[in-house]
Amino acid sequence: MQTTQSSHSEIVLYIREEIIMKVLILGFSNNIVNEDSFIPNKKGLTLSCIEICENKINELGHEYEYICMNKKNINKCYACGPRGWGKCLETHTCIQKDDFNEIYNQMHKYDAYIFVTPVYFHEMSESAKTFFDRLKRCDSFNDNSEIKDKRMMCIACAGGSGSGTEETLNSFDTLNYFLKTNMVGRIPVTKFNFNKQKELIKETINKLTS
Ligand SMILES: Cc1cc2nc3c(=O)[nH]c(=O)nc-3n(C[C@H](O)[C@H](O)[C@H](O)COP(=O)(O)O)c2cc1C
Repeated sequence: MQTTQSSHSEIVLYIREEIIMKVLILGFSNNIVNEDSFIPNKKGLTLSCIEICENKINELGHEYEYICMNKKNINKCYACGPRGWGKCLETHTCIQKDDFNEIYNQMHKYDAYIFVTPVYFHEMSESAKTFFDRLKRCDSFNDNSEIKDKRMMCIACAGGSGSGTEETLNSFDTLNYFLKTNMVGRIPVTKFNFNKQKELIKETINKLTS
């Protein structure tokens, strides 16, 4: 709280409201230890980036929930319904009884999203593709979307040659286009740029939560 003197000698009170943001972090690798990792304690690259996000969000006094998506049971989209458009085009919910709807139905509670995937074969991981395929189906043409306009940040972790981060981030751009979300940052991470990108991740979290 700040006090200051106005031109009419009134004491004006300014109350700076601290807004606590809620961030949902979805990680698409369950690799805790990676024997090939260049990170000193052999951590997985995806998980290392997630840890940077968690620490920065904590430091800023915001809240987060992290979900390891590889531990979830999420099947491929069946492209059900007429002409392959899926029943979800109308209902905005998936007919499958797996873990997808539970996560999708929680997404409105958060102010911002961080998606972190390893790069496999120059693309996002299989668990990421499967989840985002269904998310696009359910929410792209939803006039009452509660995901629309939310802030999003994406990290593509390529621990091998480093190739494929752009292709992966391009897919996130497509996701952002269909969900009508607000892409705040798209970050390629490789073993060559990891130390530099750590700082970019932290700066982008500043923007994501400001
Ligand atoms: C099936 C598979 C495909 C991969 N394809 C690529 C690739 O296209 N480009 C790359 O730089 N690294 C590639 N890698 C290496 C991973 O990006 C690297 O192991 C990364 O660290 C994975 O994240 P993690 O450490 O969180 O498991 C691949 C790894 C696997 C297992």
